Amino acid sequence: MAVERTLILIKPDAMRRALAGEILRRFEARGLELRTARLVRVDRDLAERHYAVHREKPFFGELVEFITSGPTLALVLEGEGAIATCRQTIGVTNPADAAPGSIRGDLALSMPDNLVHGSDSPETAAEEVALWFGDELA
Ligand code: RTP
Ligand code: MG
Repeated sequence: MAVERTLILIKPDAMRRALAGEILRRFEARGLELRTARLVRVDRDLAERHYAVHREKPFFGELVEFITSGPTLALVLEGEGAIATCRQTIGVTNPADAAPGSIRGDLALSMPDNLVHGSDSPETAAEEVALWFGDELA
């Protein structure tokens, strides 16, 4: 399997609850390597670009409000199959459905407070790493 990079966001709800360390620990414990990190106060422009694929969805406004509501810790993690492995470690979108053992299944209760974002494909990961970190990792 290929070595991949993925964008992980530890979202404002997780930062408010002081869960950044716990969440990063879970990724590191799986063997993923931290390549870079940045604490970001997300503005509306970055939020709308990051969530552009959801622009027509009814929850788009809520999504932008949420991600701009406080600091977000943006990470790039690297490892074999990192994109899918991170998505598994995070758990499914709605914490109410997330399996125990996953981050959302252990630490979150309901939408929209699902703590973490992880890129969902190699194409999206490349776009998102470039959006959040520019050519720092090129
Ligand atoms: P993420 O992008 O945050 O890693 O989450 P995901 O892939 O599991 O979910 P995605 O479909 O990409 O949705 C992005 C974020 O939009 C919010 N959402 N709300 N109300 C709803 O039905 C709904 N569906 C999605 C969530 O905050 C989700 O993380
Ligand atoms: Mg997504």
